Amino acid sequence: MGIFTKDVKTMDDLMLHSLQDIYYAEQQITKALPKMIDLATNRDLASGLKLHLEETNKQIERLDQVFKKLGQNPKGTDCPAIDGIIKEANEIAGEIEDKQVLDAALVASAQAVEHYEICRYGTLIAWAEALGHDDIVRFLTTNLNEEKAANTKLNTIALRKGVNRKAAG
Ligand SMILES: [Fe+2]
Ligand SMILES: [Fe+2]
Repeated sequence: MGIFTKDVKTMDDLMLHSLQDIYYAEQQITKALPKMIDLATNRDLASGLKLHLEETNKQIERLDQVFKKLGQNPKGTDCPAIDGIIKEANEIAGEIEDKQVLDAALVASAQAVEHYEICRYGTLIAWAEALGHDDIVRFLTTNLNEEKAANTKLNTIALRKGVNRKAAG
């Protein structure tokens, strides 16, 4: 929030700020995912990340709808949290030569992103409900459910599709 804190006075302001935060985060994620897809060796991992990139583009469109319903122009605001998660993902990936170990690192980084999103959407839904903005809850819930599904899929890829086993072996 930083220097913008003074602009947040009401709960509505707080929710709008959080929407701008996740809007920025989703956009940074669409920039980060192609690099992760290129680096992935495991086919389930690469195809899972590709599918989630497509989902992420649709999530941004849903957020456009949310801003519209609130009578606001879609706008992002700096989110140092997602910047940090993505920066760390890139740094770790850049240090790993072994492709199998790199896959395990990519899963972990992607799950950090999903957990961040799950946290943000959970909060936004609770705030939208508290403020009586029932018309935006369904858009946010669709996004939340996609993030949860993406996280579950990453778990499966790590644990049952051999990523962790190959990285350890
Ligand atoms: Fe997302
Ligand atoms: Fe996501």
